[in-house]
Order: sequence, then structure tokens, then C-alpha cells
Amino acid sequence: MQEQIERIHPDQADVLRDLRLRGLEEAPEAFGPRYTDIAARPKEYWHQHVLHYASSQDSATFLLYRNGKPVGMAGAYLEGSRRDHAYICNMWVDPTYRRGGAGGRLVDTATRWLAEQGVERINAWVVETNTTALRFYETLGFVRDKNRRQMPSSPEAQEILLVFDTALL
Ligand SMILES: CC(C)(COP(=O)(O)OP(=O)(O)OC[C@H]1O[C@@H](n2cnc3c(N)ncnc32)[C@H](O)[C@@H]1OP(=O)(O)O)[C@@H](O)C(=O)NCCC(=O)NCCS
Repeated sequence: MQEQIERIHPDQADVLRDLRLRGLEEAPEAFGPRYTDIAARPKEYWHQHVLHYASSQDSATFLLYRNGKPVGMAGAYLEGSRRDHAYICNMWVDPTYRRGGAGGRLVDTATRWLAEQGVERINAWVVETNTTALRFYETLGFVRDKNRRQMPSSPEAQEILLVFDTALL
């Protein structure tokens, strides 16, 4: 089965929307926003965001393809202009293609892109009940930080910060 990972293209607003909604539908507990809120966003929102994720130096989305079909994604972004302060977010792989290393290759692509932007430390927030994602990031070399926060859209849930040092690349 042929696999590709590529940065999203400016004309892929529908693909971005579709993958975000598939992730939210399949693993709602893993993500902050609610499916209905994201589904209600207007076309203009997706067109603006895909342009940004396709060409910005502060933010990028990478898509996973199997046999030419989009089946997963990873987001990467810098917060403000702080080169020490970057995040991986919106990680999702279609369940059919899990446990084959695809998620790891998506994270690797995103972390290398952030490192090219000059980032030294990459963060990922994971809700504490998502033991799969915690294990996943730790396997990839992320380390649990003592920092915790309430999940922005579900304050009753706690998130754990995982940190990756790009010197390990
Ligand atoms: C987390 C996720 C992206 C992992 O994708 P994936 O393609 O299965 O990941 P990989 O195959 O690259 O897994 C790499 C390693 O992570 C660990 N891992 C992944 N899934 C695991 C699971 N269900 N249980 C235990 N360890 C797991 C393993 O060590 C695995 O290596 P191995 O298969 O050789 O043992 C995927 O499970 C997913 O989309 N989950 C739902 C959304 C989500 O939770 N996103 C994260 C939000 S913070």
C-alpha cells in the first residue's frame, strides 16, 4: 500500500474540514472542540485556514495519504514569534491504518518542519485519559512535563504536557 505524507495544499479546504470532522467523530474525547461547533464553521473559515496551513512559516498541516486517499493529519504551529514555543496538534489517523507507524511518521514530519523553523522544544497537550496518545508520544521521544492545564473546552478534563527536544532529531 502506497503511503505519502505532504503539507496540505491551498485548494484542500474540503479535505481539511473532512479530516477534522472524521477525527472529532471518531475520537471526540481526544480533542477540545465539539463536532457540532466545527461542523458549523462557514466555508470561508476553511478557505482562510487552509491557505495559512499551506503557506505560513508559523503554522502547517500535514496530510497522510494511503493509495492517494487522505487518511490522517497532524498540525504544527509556533505561538507568536517565540521560536522556543511550538506545538503539535490535531493528530489523527484513521483507525484502519493505525499501529503501522503512520502516526509516528506524521509527527516526525511535523517536528522536522518545526525544527527547520528554528524551534528547539515542541509541546503536545494530551488529555490525561488518552492513554494511547500518551504512550504514542512517549514512544516517539516526548517526555512528560509537570505542567498540566484544564482542557480549554472541557474544564473538567485535565491535560498533560509532553515535550520534545529537537536536538534528538
Ligand atoms: C494517537 C494516534 C495518532 C497514533 O497513530 P498510529 O498510526 O496508530 O501510531 P503509530 O503506529 O505510529 O504508533 C507508534 C507507537 O505509539 C504507541 N501506540 C500507538 N497506539 C497505541 C495503543 N493503542 N496502545 C499502546 N501504544 C500505542 C506504540 O508504542 C506504537 O508503536 P508500536 O505499534 O510499534 O508498538 C492514533 O491512535 C489516533 O489517531 N488516535 C485518536 C486521536 C488522538 O488521540 N489523537 C491525539 C490527540 S492528543
